[in-house]
This record gives sequence, C-alpha cells and structure tokens, in this order.
Amino acid sequence: MLVDDVLTIGEVAKRSGIASSALRFYEERGLIQSVRNRSGHRRYSRGVLRRVAFIVFAQRIGLSLEEVARELAKLPTNRVPERTDWAKLSAGWTARIRERIAELERLQAGLTECIGCGCLSLDRCRLANPGDRAARRGPGPRYWMEGPTSA
Ligand code: FES
Repeated sequence: MLVDDVLTIGEVAKRSGIASSALRFYEERGLIQSVRNRSGHRRYSRGVLRRVAFIVFAQRIGLSLEEVARELAKLPTNRVPERTDWAKLSAGWTARIRERIAELERLQAGLTECIGCGCLSLDRCRLANPGDRAARRGPGPRYWMEGPTSA
C-alpha cells in the first residue's frame, strides 16, 4: 500500500471515521490545520489523524471543544508532535479519565438501582431517595454523578 504524507479531506474522513463536515468544523475552530493546494483544496499532513483521534476521545471523556483546543495548543506547530509532546498533555487527563471510569462503573452497577434523578419511579427510590432528598445535592442523577447513596 502506498502511504502518502499529504491527505485530502476525503482521505482523512475515511481513515479517521469522522465526517468531512466535522473535519471542516474542527478546522474552523482551530483544532486542526490544512494547507490549500493550487486548486484551493484542503490538504492535511498525515499527523492530523492523531489530532482527530485525540479530539474524538477527549470529547468522549467529557472535555469541551474549548478544553480540547487548550490541550492541543500545547503541541508544537512547527513540527509533527512526538511522544514527549503528547505526554505533556496526559498529566491533566489522568484525574479526568479516572472520574469517567468511576462514572461508567456506577452507570453499569446502577442500571437497575435508584440513581437519584428525581423520578421516584422505582420501588428502590423509596429507600434510596425518599421524597427526592437527592435534589438537595443539586440537579441531575446525583447518585450516578457522586457515587453511593450515603446522604
Ligand atoms: S431512579 Fe430516579 S429517583 Fe430513583
């Protein structure tokens, strides 16, 4: 297989699994960059694929596009980022990833339990969340967000 260093937007979309429209949106937000060829078409360096993968997974763990942009701004712009460059981004991520894992574990464990969302629809809610006392902690499914129903 011939591997070219410069990719069209269609090639980036195909390899990354991200629609061209989303790639254009990322570019408008400054998350990825392209150069224009003589015909005015976008051309991307192959390294953009790693940036796109980063954007997708960063969003999956709950980072906003603004946060993703701040993280990506830590990478060098004058060369392809190396392992050490990416490592600089990871420090602040560890806590975020741990939070997300804990959330998902609570989600998995709590699918049939009261999640403190205020619905009071399960027989278990009468014990776990009598009178919707979880609402005192704030909006949303408090037991999913914060863990065990200790309040
Ligand atoms: S599941 Fe909604 S308050 Fe219990």
